[in-house]
Amino acid sequence: MRLFVAININSETRSNLLALHDELRGKSERGRFSLPENLHLTLVFLGECDVAQVAAAKEAMDAVVFDPFDLVVERVGRFRRGGGDIWWAGVRENTVLLSLQQKLTSGLRSKGFHLEKREYSPHITLGREIVTEAIPRPIEPFGETVSKIDLMKSEHIRGKLTYTSIYRRGVTELGL
Ligand code: 2AM
Repeated sequence: MRLFVAININSETRSNLLALHDELRGKSERGRFSLPENLHLTLVFLGECDVAQVAAAKEAMDAVVFDPFDLVVERVGRFRRGGGDIWWAGVRENTVLLSLQQKLTSGLRSKGFHLEKREYSPHITLGREIVTEAIPRPIEPFGETVSKIDLMKSEHIRGKLTYTSIYRRGVTELGL
C-alpha cells in the first residue's frame, strides 16, 4: 500500500484553507483541485510499503518525541510546472515541525526506508496542473495547535483519491 505520514488539520483550519482554495479556483482557467477532505500537511512520503514496512513505520512514529506546536498558514504559493503549476498554502517556519520531520525521517531511514533527499518544504497542496492568473501572496495567518501525526494510506476507491489514517501517534504525555 501507498503510505505517507501527515498532519491532519481540524475543521476550522480546513474551512480557512477552503476559502483560499475556492478563491484560487475562481481565478483559474483550469486545474485539478484537492478534494476538501484530502487537505493535509505531509511530513514524509513513504511510497509503496509491504506489511513489514507498515510495522516499521509505526515503530519509527512511536520512537519520535515531540512537543505540541502551533502550525500557522501564512501564504499561498506555487511550484512552477510545465502544463500547470502546483499551488499550495505555505506554513510558517517552525523549528518544532522541522525537528519532528527530521527525527521521523532519520528514524525511518535507519529502518531501511529510502526517502526523498530534497529539502523539506512544508506545504498543503491546494491543487495541481493549475493555470491561473492568481499570484503568490502572504495571507492573514491562521492555524492550530498540533499534537498528533498520522500514518496515511492513499488509494483510489471507485476512482476517488482517498486518504485514510491507519495509525495515529500523539505527543508523548510525559515528554519521555
Ligand atoms: P504533494 O501534495 O506536494 O504532492 C500523498 O501523495 C502526499 O504525499 C501528498 O501530500 C504529496 O505531496 C506527498 N508526496 C511527497 N512526495 C511524493 C511523491 N514522490 N509522490 C507522491 N506524493 C508525494
